[in-house]
Amino acid sequence: MAAGDARPLLGNREEIEAHIAHMKRDGRHIAPVLWRGQPAWLKLAVPQPPAWRYQLLAGAAKLLGQPAMQAVRPHGGSHGLQVEASRIRALAAAGLRTPELFDESHGWLLMSDLGQATLESLIRHAAPDERLVHWQRGADYILQAHRTGQYLSQAFARNFVWSPEAGLGAIDFEDDALAAMPLADAQTRDWLPYCFSTAIYFEDRLPQLCAAINHALAREAPAVRIGVHQALRRTAWLRMLRRMPVRLQRRDVRKTRFFGELARHCSQSSAHGRP
Ligand SMILES: Nc1ncnc2c1ncn2[C@@H]1O[C@H](COP(=O)(O)OP(=O)(O)O)[C@@H](O)[C@H]1O
Ligand SMILES: [Mg+2]
Repeated sequence: MAAGDARPLLGNREEIEAHIAHMKRDGRHIAPVLWRGQPAWLKLAVPQPPAWRYQLLAGAAKLLGQPAMQAVRPHGGSHGLQVEASRIRALAAAGLRTPELFDESHGWLLMSDLGQATLESLIRHAAPDERLVHWQRGADYILQAHRTGQYLSQAFARNFVWSPEAGLGAIDFEDDALAAMPLADAQTRDWLPYCFSTAIYFEDRLPQLCAAINHALAREAPAVRIGVHQALRRTAWLRMLRRMPVRLQRRDVRKTRFFGELARHCSQSSAHGRP
């Protein structure tokens, strides 16, 4: 590397393998590189997370009567990256913006760079009255994926990347929701991480965010619309976290709390989709 933050130049598999050795030594599983002059990302396989965590989440989803909220256990290892590559191909074939796969082998993927800023950082750093414009781009992406019979599964705002020239793209597909649930549940499920990861940035604009959500859901298949409204009704209680002392409200707690606040607003403001 020429400078501390310069992307290393890679041009062949030998150089890729050498850089992978560096990454492993530094404990990194993803790194920006330059592949034959083009900005790219080298992503390595990580071990599969423990099964008990996902069994717990599956139990919670069952308790809530909400199959779409079930977490899908990522495969991890090189199988996880094979899932990622095949999801990227399927989404690209459906006309969605995803990274181009430059090369892949057992345990790694080399893919094109989609842009500098994640959607989460764009929303977070935008002026409050401009946040909805960015939010809508993520919603449009999800809607387009669903219209073409696709689904994302890890649709957190941090997994969308924005480029002013090329628009929004999506990354990070190590799990395949369709392996664990029907398509309508997988599509329902996309809205939950998206709302969960963005509600906190609309603290004082929750009615506007609800209106945008309802507008987006009106363009969804009825099963998905009903599923999301049901999930929101069943998670509104999470706003109880507001009662926690502020000093204990870490960021993940606040995100969960605002998701609950959003869920309550949306449940109150809309009678659509009642089963
Ligand atoms: N193709 C890409 N284009 C632009 N940024 C990327 C790309 N791949 C990864 N990144 C950056 O690296 C971060 C982590 O990558 P990701 O694939 O989401 O891995 P993880 O499984 O650790 O979440 C992303 O949030 C994004 O900032
Ligand atoms: Mg990610």
